[in-house]
Parts: sequence; C-alpha cells; structure tokens
Amino acid sequence: MTFLEEVNRRRTFAIISHPDAGKTTLTEKLLLYGGAIHLAGSVKSRKTNKHAVSDWMEIEKQRGISVTSSVLQFDYDGCRVNILDTPGHQDFSEDTYRTLMAADSAVMLIDIAKGVEAQTKKLFAVCKERGIPIFTFVNKLDHFGKSPFDLMEEIENVLGIRAVPMNWPVGINGEYKGIFDREHNTIELFAKDETHGQEKLESQKGSVDDPIFKELIGEELHQALIDDIELLDVAGDAFDFEKVRSGELTPMFFGSAMTNFGVKPFLEKFLELAPSPAPRKALEETVEPTSEDFSSLVFKIQANMNPNHHDRIVFMRICSGKFEKGMTVLHKQSNKSIRLSQPQQFLATERTIVEDAYPGDIIGVFDAGTMGVGDTLCAANHKVTFGDFPVFPPEFFARVSPKDTMKRKQFIKGMTQLAQEGAVQIFEQQLSLDSYVVGAVGMLQFEVLEYRLKNEYGVDLLNHTLPYSVARWVDGDVDPTTLKGLDNAMVVKDNRERTVILISNEWQMGWVQERNPDVTFLTTPKLH
Ligand code: G4P
Repeated sequence: MTFLEEVNRRRTFAIISHPDAGKTTLTEKLLLYGGAIHLAGSVKSRKTNKHAVSDWMEIEKQRGISVTSSVLQFDYDGCRVNILDTPGHQDFSEDTYRTLMAADSAVMLIDIAKGVEAQTKKLFAVCKERGIPIFTFVNKLDHFGKSPFDLMEEIENVLGIRAVPMNWPVGINGEYKGIFDREHNTIELFAKDETHGQEKLESQKGSVDDPIFKELIGEELHQALIDDIELLDVAGDAFDFEKVRSGELTPMFFGSAMTNFGVKPFLEKFLELAPSPAPRKALEETVEPTSEDFSSLVFKIQANMNPNHHDRIVFMRICSGKFEKGMTVLHKQSNKSIRLSQPQQFLATERTIVEDAYPGDIIGVFDAGTMGVGDTLCAANHKVTFGDFPVFPPEFFARVSPKDTMKRKQFIKGMTQLAQEGAVQIFEQQLSLDSYVVGAVGMLQFEVLEYRLKNEYGVDLLNHTLPYSVARWVDGDVDPTTLKGLDNAMVVKDNRERTVILISNEWQMGWVQERNPDVTFLTTPKLH
C-alpha cells in the first residue's frame, strides 16, 4: 500500500457522551464487530471510575486495564480504525479535552430516554470549537425513550446543530425491531438478542418494498415507517458532507449497543463517511497529513503504567509522515534529538511493539521526563510546533509537602512527573523549598494526587487548601516586585518560570488590574 493509501484509510475518533449513555458498551461492540475481540465482555468495564475517587483507586489497582484502553485499534472494511478512549468523570474532563486534540471526528452518544445531557453539551462545544465533525448515535433503542423526531429537535435546540438521520428505527417506541437505511431504501430486522450481546446479532435485510417485511412487522408499522420517511425526505435536511465538516450538520444513527442492534450498520456507514486524518495548524504552517516529513503531537502522558518499573509512557498522535521504529526525531520544545526506540501500540487488551505507523495512528513511547503534554516531535529538517493545545486555568489551589521530610526526593520526583502528565499544575513560591503550590481544575484531582503519590512514590502528603480561585499569568518581562496591590494575593512561578498571581476572586483581580494599568494579566499562559 502506498503512503497516501495508508493515510486515507485511517479513521481516528473519540466517543463523547454523558456518563452512563453506553460509551464503554459501544466501544466494546465496535471491537466485537471489528474482530478485535471475540466475545463482548472481555474488555473490562471502567465505568466505576466516574462515580467516586475510591472507585477510581480500585480501578487504578488494575492499572493495565485503563492503560491499554487509551486507544484501541482494529481493521474493518479496509479501514484502520483508531478509537480514542475518553475518561467519563467530569473532574477528568481536562483529559478528555486533550484526547479530543488527537481525534479527526467524534461520535456523540445519546441515551434515547435522556436526550442531550450536561457533559455531552460541554464536549460537543469543544468538538465544535475545534472543527471536529460530529456523528450521533442514539443508544438504548431497546428501551422506552423519546421519539426520534423529538430527539432531532432537541439536538437542534440544545446544541444548535441540525441532525440528518442516516437510518431510522423500525417499530414502536420501546420495541423497535430494526433499522431502515435511507440511502439504500432497505430494512434490516434484527433477531432477538439471546447472548446478552456477547455475540454478533443475526439480521434479515432487504428492500423496504419486499412484501416479506410487511408480513414480518405488520401492515400498520410498515405504513408508519413509510410516513416517517416521507416526512424526513420532504422536511428534513439532505446529507451534505461539507455541512458535517463545518459543524452545521450531524449524521444521526440509531441502535442499541447492549443488544448489538444497529451496531454493524452504524460502523459501516460511519467508516464510509468519517474523515481521514485532517491537516493540522502549527505555528509555522498548516501541516498536511500527506507530507512525508514526520510530525506528532503529545496529547497524553501516563507515568507508572507498571508501578514496579516507574515507567512513563508518552502518547502521541502522528500528524504527518511515516513513523518507523527506532527513528530519531526532534523534540521541538527542548530542541533535543530523541530516538523512538520501543514504540507501543495497543490492541484491545494487548500491547505490541510497532514497526511503523501513519498519520492518524497513536503510539506510546517510553520517556524519562523530557516530554510534556502539548509538545511536538518533528523531523529535524522540517521543524513545526503544534501550538493550539488547550490549557485550562486552575480554580482550586493547595500547598502540598511531604509528611516525612526524608521523602523529599521522592516527593519532588512524583510531583514533577504527575505535573508533566497534566494531573495537576505545580507552582513554586520563592524561598519555599519543601512545598509546592498546586492548582487543579477540579477538587477530585487533589485526592487523586494524594493517592497516587502514596501508591506510586510512597509519599504521604500534607495538604493545605489555599483560599484562591483565580490564577493570572503576568505577560511579558515584568519584575513581580514592582506589581502593586498584591496584599491578598500570592506570587508564584509556573514550571516555565513564568510569574503567576493567585488571588481569591475576579473582583480582587479587577482591583489589581486597576492598580497596574500597564500590565497584561492572562487567564492562560502563552504557549511559546
Ligand atoms: P458509559 O461508559 O457511557 O458510562 O456507559 P456504559 O457502557 O458503562 O453503560 C451504562 C449502562 O447502560 C450499563 O448498565 C449498560 O449495560 C447500559 N447500556 C449500554 N448500552 C445499552 C443499550 O443499548 N440498552 C440498554 N438498555 N442499556 C444499555 P449498568 O446496569 O450500569 O451495568 P451492567 O450491569 O449492564 O454492566
């Protein structure tokens, strides 16, 4: 296969949804149909990680599971499919946002009974802002729920995007029997699920005009379907890929991940429509995926995947060029050459060493601590910097130090590694050697920090909450001692030595701004 063909057959996407809509289940069923697993149920559910820290910790004990699920790859119909895993808990949404940086499209999963929920709205907004085309899968069709027309309206009213059904449920609410394919005018009726969704579902497919279907579903339901379709044809939007690309339209599918109903038709149509790797903006130029010069973006770091070895894996999305095992690339941020020697790829529950990989693929490499999330790796003779990685302003702050001062070394190592992972942001205050100020987007992050420092580095943490909720980066080269009105604020440095003001609220910050009219205070740091 040529390089171009390899690029064009990649489909890299994330599934976004509110917890409990069925993301874990759908992911597993896609693997089942993709032939990556043979019986559903073999990828352990990680769903408990969204409920409480204790559950998250429980899961962390089985570390291999969450880790191998970071990205799942399989081949289907000539496509190479990469599914990016996004964590479910709200407090981890920062991770989710970052993962979306590696996706070319997103599947928005909606529970037929619940419709568009809070977390879905947030994630949708990120995809839209990033120009990621969104496909919709309405799940749990085996249950009572909203009518498909009402859901279309809800999507439009709540999310501001029109939905174009690619297929349509056949039957009545709570007891759908099959799917109508609008492009081919075919009906596919699914057999009753007898294996609790463990195995693929039998189905019967044919033209909607074939009298057998009238017999099978009854004249009344058949007529109701014809009426619905007519209404959609007349009043609905036509499929238009440009509109999908520009975020005006979302192709909509129906099914039930649990019973495997509609999963295969969705997978096939989705792979046909979903975009191959898209060009990506760098500070210097727009990087075409088909460019032969290698570039990749680090979007996730996971330390201690194997707690006994303290290894640290950096996950990167290849943006252009072919990756070959052992190749040497430039780490743009440190200007260092790095040899990518043991690249890993993840398939269902196994890790394998990759020989080569193409734009759209995700690989993990071991790194001792040079790389951070958002960093770029590129060919030494074609330097680019991906600069649009989202940084979220922390809203919670605490001062942390080791209970046992003898553990200072492990404390610093652990804090540095976890901050590089993006688990928390760390700040240093001058003259305060044995403690860090840490900032987080959600409170849960502190608890996770405490747990991980103890479990992975053997450090018990002293944790003092600080009364701040706002962080501002001082722009330019300003001597912090010249700033006025900081009596109730704390001045710290971030990991790149930039001055940051921590203060209790926006109002106080406004006051500081008034006293320092010539200084610009930024809500997020400038990237470079
Ligand atoms: P998540 O990752 O989005 O949080 O959702 P997950 O797949 O864990 O699914 C959440 C619950 O919804 C699970 O039930 C799951 O079985 C159920 N579910 C998923 N797809 C369907 C579907 O198509 N129809 C119906 N009726 N239910 C579905 P649970 O009771 O929490 O867990 P379990 O006991 O079934 O494992």
